[in-house]
Amino acid sequence: MSVSRREFLERSAALTAAGFLPRVPSPDELGRPIAAGAVGASAIGVPFRGRPVVVSSANGIRGVKVAYDQITKGTDPLDAIIAGVNIQELDPDDQSVGLGGLPNEEGIVQLDASCMHGPTKRAGSVAGIEDIATPSLVAKAVMDYTDHVMLAGAGARKFALAMGFKAQNLLTEKSRQDWMRWKSRLNAGDFWLDHNDDIKIKFTTGTINMNAVTATGDIASVTTTSGMAYKIPGRIGDSPIIGAGQYCDNLVGAAGSTGRGEANIKACASFLAVEFMRQGLAPEAALIKTLERVAAMTEPRLLDANGRPKFDLEFYAVAKDGRYAGATLYSGGRFAVCDEKGPRLESAAFLFKR
Ligand code: GLY
Repeated sequence: MSVSRREFLERSAALTAAGFLPRVPSPDELGRPIAAGAVGASAIGVPFRGRPVVVSSANGIRGVKVAYDQITKGTDPLDAIIAGVNIQELDPDDQSVGLGGLPNEEGIVQLDASCMHGPTKRAGSVAGIEDIATPSLVAKAVMDYTDHVMLAGAGARKFALAMGFKAQNLLTEKSRQDWMRWKSRLNAGDFWLDHNDDIKIKFTTGTINMNAVTATGDIASVTTTSGMAYKIPGRIGDSPIIGAGQYCDNLVGAAGSTGRGEANIKACASFLAVEFMRQGLAPEAALIKTLERVAAMTEPRLLDANGRPKFDLEFYAVAKDGRYAGATLYSGGRFAVCDEKGPRLESAAFLFKR
């Protein structure tokens, strides 16, 4: 049965409204350059009115408020969320990021970060950078001042110093002691004496990811971390990888992650989450579908007797219209959000019950 073009358009519109088909993108969404000043405006020139919201991993509970207050006063969403994550980067008690982050196996703190700016479609990233407490800002400097997207290791540090960042020792006394405890327990036959055997060795794959959407629908995302505790020197996690640690598309939304980076990298999971939202899924459904992919991509040695991943991975997302979600592989996770109701922790959706 043939269908006229008009009938086809009417049927697709009805199905789209009913939520069965992805919305057909407008010419702007298909990649036509957006005219200066039109950022945040709809295809027919009516200013986009949405709902500002900031979402992050639970450790961003202070940062989401700072970022939300800034975006509602007109600050650029990327500057606002970087101000939000700077709080954790500079907090010596957060051992998953920046100053005080747990070091690599040699006792050296190596940091990863990346960011994306939706309105201008730009990204920046640093990997394995040492001595600079705020890698999120260095990632933004890569984005703002270079033609590159990613700098790593000694080159990233040199760039940061040239940009005026100050070098400092990031290994706090608390993290040094945790590292030494881990080191002394590595091998019963080594020459380090074991003390205080009841002390639990501290590990973290913690990180902070933060995403924001403004009232005009402009979106940004940032992720920053000290990575997996006691990692092999040079190990790079998901956080500095655009599409894994975070991803942002100003026409759709943003997503980012915390947890076992190796699992995220193989699924390009933040990119995937944004793609699922582009296809019409709400943020929570998009994150659950992303977690299903992560689980499906898990190698057998990392699966338990029930075929479930032995690790956790968490995702956070905002959509252009202000909907948001957090979702984790296992139940019990929480995430931070701030909107007109103020900052709070909410329960994350999950794929598997613990
Ligand atoms: N998600 C942080 C890391 O694996 O490095």
